[in-house]
Amino acid sequence: MATPDTTDSHEQLISTSVQTGGTDRTDRTNRPDETVLASHNLSVYYGEERALNDVTIEIPENKVTAIIGPSGCGKSTFLRCINRMNDQIDGCRVEGEFTYQGKNVYDEDVDPVALRRRVGQVFQKPNPFPKSIRDNVTYGLEVQGKSATDEDVERALRGAALWDEVKDQLDSSGLDLSGGQQQRLCIARAIAPDPEVILMDEPTSALDPVAASKIEDLIDELVEEYTVVIVTHNMQQAARISDKTAVFLTGGNLVEFDETTTVFENPAHSRVEDYITGRFG
Ligand SMILES: Nc1ncnc2c1ncn2[C@@H]1O[C@H](COP(=O)(O)OP(=O)(O)OP(=O)(O)O)[C@@H](O)[C@H]1O
Ligand SMILES: [Mg+2]
Repeated sequence: MATPDTTDSHEQLISTSVQTGGTDRTDRTNRPDETVLASHNLSVYYGEERALNDVTIEIPENKVTAIIGPSGCGKSTFLRCINRMNDQIDGCRVEGEFTYQGKNVYDEDVDPVALRRRVGQVFQKPNPFPKSIRDNVTYGLEVQGKSATDEDVERALRGAALWDEVKDQLDSSGLDLSGGQQQRLCIARAIAPDPEVILMDEPTSALDPVAASKIEDLIDELVEEYTVVIVTHNMQQAARISDKTAVFLTGGNLVEFDETTTVFENPAHSRVEDYITGRFG
């Protein structure tokens, strides 16, 4: 089996020019598991306060990795390190490394905009722009200077399992959709630029159970093509949809990271067992 060439992806991170074409996905699904994202001794501070403490983790490609832990333990901070959304927070300082395909995303030559093209994000609260459904989807391509075709719009909406519901109303406002549809529109917007990784921070917590279950089904499909890292407060959800689970506990410590079945059925740490059984947190 050929060794994947990571040089290209490094160039895509560094370059400010618009890239064309995508990765050969068919090849990827046949590849053995491989680390795509990794942190090494990652610590994050807001001013004097440390939010993440010396976190080292390897996240595999084309898998769902769930990040769980009590409020304030640093889950969102961790997610924001991956595509450097923390850059936008005053007083936030990152120590250590976060690598994407072996390249430290904090290297000076990395362009955060190019990084975010590869590593898309979906937030807790559906946040479509006050624009048409079509324009919401094409936005991600247009900020890169690419013109989006009808096929691009259809592909992204199909990828987000929303096409059948909106195909006759592409010019209506994205804000007129239901909450669950809005969240799928945000997923369509995130996948339109053809990223490799999708970060989701509690994407279903604002949704009713039916809409949430649609997103869960969708994640199951998305992972065929993308690597998904999802923060959730819902233990059942983490157990249902993820392959790997990372448990952060107070002090921004990554306490356990393993196969999801192991974490939920036979955790190595009693503090983790206490947390997932509801005795703590
Ligand atoms: N913008 C910020 N400025 C200052 N401190 C922050 C900021 N964002 C987060 N923090 C602090 O960093 C720590 C981790 O916060 P973070 O939002 O990453 O936690 P979380 O695990 O996502 O929590 P929740 O489950 O409530 O979303 C907390 O102590 C929080 O107060
Ligand atoms: Mg959070």
